[in-house]
Amino acid sequence: MSRPAPKSFHVKSFGCQMNVYDGARMSELLEAEGMSAADSAEDADLVVLNTCHIREKAAEKVYSDIGRIVKRGGGSPPMIAVAGCVAQAEGAEIPRRAPAVDIVVGPQAYHRLPEMVRAAQSGRAVDTDMPLASKFDALPARRRQGPSAFLTVQEGCDKFCTYCVVPYTRGAEVSRPWGAIVDEAKALIDGGAKEITLLGQNVNAWEGEDEAGHLRGLDGLIRALDRLPGLHRIRYTTSHPNDMKDGLIAAHGDVEKLMPFLHLPVQSGSDRILKAMNRSHGSGSYLAILDRVRAARPDIAISGDFIVGFPGETEEDFAATLDLVRAVGYAQAFTFKYSPRPGTPAATMDDTVAESVMDERLQRLQALINEQQHAFNRTTLGRTTDILIERDGRKPGQRIGKSPWLQSVHIEDGAAIGELLPVEIVSAGPNSVGGVVARRQAA
Ligand code: 5AD
Ligand code: SF4
Repeated sequence: MSRPAPKSFHVKSFGCQMNVYDGARMSELLEAEGMSAADSAEDADLVVLNTCHIREKAAEKVYSDIGRIVKRGGGSPPMIAVAGCVAQAEGAEIPRRAPAVDIVVGPQAYHRLPEMVRAAQSGRAVDTDMPLASKFDALPARRRQGPSAFLTVQEGCDKFCTYCVVPYTRGAEVSRPWGAIVDEAKALIDGGAKEITLLGQNVNAWEGEDEAGHLRGLDGLIRALDRLPGLHRIRYTTSHPNDMKDGLIAAHGDVEKLMPFLHLPVQSGSDRILKAMNRSHGSGSYLAILDRVRAARPDIAISGDFIVGFPGETEEDFAATLDLVRAVGYAQAFTFKYSPRPGTPAATMDDTVAESVMDERLQRLQALINEQQHAFNRTTLGRTTDILIERDGRKPGQRIGKSPWLQSVHIEDGAAIGELLPVEIVSAGPNSVGGVVARRQAA
């Protein structure tokens, strides 16, 4: 039995920013094949679910989504592709559990999506290879982007934190070559990007040779991008404390386009738990790094990730996490309940923490972080700073932009998407701030 070739597609990405990036590249690839992008899964002949495997809830979401797509009314059911980290982790198990799935494609194999779509017209296609040749070489050049664009420079992780699936789903640490990154950045700028966020599971472990053959770290790359005309802002995420090298810290002090924001996950404030997590840093060394970063860039906003309820976490361990949060003063942070992931060392650890205890700790941690975020937002009150306008707000005429410190800034007085313009911060809520355009940018 053969099905017609899909004419339209819809990519739905879950999880991290790298999935958003991969989703954009899959869209560009399918468009280059002559397919058109549909606004919603309902209108598409091909639905790509670009999945996340980091916690159980995220991983299970794909199955409820598939159920919803299958049940939709109207004409023939769409072709369904499962991409991303669930595809990598579960492979051929996915169509066994959800027979409506036609394609399973891992995060290192999605450049083969067009040929898999052709194969799926008469059967099923599964590809979770991690080929040595980079998918990036096979993807079409970057195209139109919004004012803020992602650029993957590094993928994979060799750190093997005991709770984490990333080393298994994204593979070993690989840095993309210097030239490819600079070329992609130029293409993004030509397509309208004013801000580029460099992405990697361990982005600060990036290394490569520059045009002259000298080995450079992420700071070298940032300095090269700093010289590109038309680019105004550079960010990078996510970093590991152990790769926070001197050069990168120094760059925060003297590279003007590098925004004063650092997402540096620590996970726990207890050295005992950090050891059980195989984090290879302690709470003291983490705080010492932040001291140095703040010495280089005093106004830097700090963000982090935390896991509560890791196996063996006692009330005393959790109290150490609260202490660390108090010592840092976060501008924002992400908090998660520990979720055992199949195949990771922590999944078989004893001394699991009861769900009710995890809930209660999560609430206390979130309350403290919300308080800190609100306090940080208040420190920017009255300041006039450049805001990059990124999208429409919910109210008519309202726009939402980002401050240098990655705050969401709501502006009521009709700034245009893509503008980078001075805005005075006039109100500070817990999750966002309000601003008024101070004066128009010179044309
Ligand atoms: N359970 C809960 N949170 C997790 N993270 C990674 N693995 C797990 C897990 N098994 C969190 C970490 C990481 C972020 C991306 O997700 O905090 O930094
Ligand atoms: Fe996962 Fe740890 Fe690697 Fe981050 S550093 S991706 S938490 S294994």
